Amino acid sequence: MQTAERLAKIPPYLFMELRKKINKAKTDGVDVISLAIGDPVEATPDSIIDELCATARNPLNHRYPTDEEKGMLLYRQEIARWYQTRYGVSLNPESEILGLIGSKEGCHHFIMARVNPGDTVLMTDPGYPAYRASILMGEGVPYNVPILPENNYLPVLEDIPSDIVLKATAMFLNYPNNPTGACATPEFLDKLVAFAKASDIAICYDNPYSEILFAGQPRISFLMAQGAKDVGVELNSLSKPFNMCGWRIGVACGNPELIAAISKVKENTDSGIFNPIQYAGIQALQKEAPFVEKMLAVYGKRREKVLKTLKKIGIDFNPPRGTFYLWVPVPRGMTSLEFTNRLFDKTAVVVASGTAYGKYGEGFVRISLTVPDDRLAEAMARIEKEFKQ
Ligand SMILES: Cc1ncc(COP(=O)(O)O)c(C=O)c1O
Repeated sequence: MQTAERLAKIPPYLFMELRKKINKAKTDGVDVISLAIGDPVEATPDSIIDELCATARNPLNHRYPTDEEKGMLLYRQEIARWYQTRYGVSLNPESEILGLIGSKEGCHHFIMARVNPGDTVLMTDPGYPAYRASILMGEGVPYNVPILPENNYLPVLEDIPSDIVLKATAMFLNYPNNPTGACATPEFLDKLVAFAKASDIAICYDNPYSEILFAGQPRISFLMAQGAKDVGVELNSLSKPFNMCGWRIGVACGNPELIAAISKVKENTDSGIFNPIQYAGIQALQKEAPFVEKMLAVYGKRREKVLKTLKKIGIDFNPPRGTFYLWVPVPRGMTSLEFTNRLFDKTAVVVASGTAYGKYGEGFVRISLTVPDDRLAEAMARIEKEFKQ
């Protein structure tokens, strides 16, 4: 069967390839430890599960979701309260908030809502691979803006060639950043808003790690910047802070015209989030902020453990303070892939090669901290043994 040409342009999804490799090794009896994927292993808090179970018993919730594609008003109101208390951002639940099946869905719908075939769309390199796939599916043209360690992994907006800026209609950004862990500053966000206004570029600020911060790093939303709502939307998600990756619940907030356009795409694609999942999401936002703190303490300890091991094998660096990933420079004289392959072949530890996130990812690997403590300890022991100088 001939399938659509647009799909042929999309590179294989990084984690699908990795999963295949891991599964094969496991079938061969190898004790593989994967530090490659950002998917918390600890359970979703009980109160959230209880709310799902209780509301799933009500037949009213078995029908199409309330308010369909927009998400329940109660859920949108709770998101508004969360944004006000956590970020000091005011949002109108009626016009500035839209429920999503995760922020990944929002990336795709944002492109459908804003980008015409042939438009240039800016994204960072390294960057989350799903942006490229969404741009290509929308028949846009991705343009990679490098983000480098010397600029704290923030794009230098003035360095983007003016002909590209002229052609661009949208830009993806994501801080706290996957894969580098870097965080944005208020000054950068002000510059970003001015840049977007001057060049009529709609911003899709993907912020699912907004709560995953260490060492006193302050929480930042794009919508805190003056004028942000004039130029873009922020995507957020319950996946990472509440260990709800599998539940599929997130949100888009910001510019009302963009929110209405994304809502129109959604209305013609799916019929919204299952009501009990929205009730469970409300429970998470209302009651489980302490759980976020608890998980941050867990990740913080794991960060220290990995950094200590890396130091012992001669990799000493000062990591950025966001996300549950560490963006680790590889030993001198090796490429990202060589280091990744040696780790896998000699220790059965899987990490993501930096080049999977773009060519500027060369020289780095990404280590995820979402593995149980004992498995992480075992992985670190193997790495120390293999690489100790
Ligand atoms: C930058 C970024 N955006 C979006 C997502 C997807 O999040 P969600 O589960 O909300 O779809 C991820 C998941 O790893 C991510 O790293």
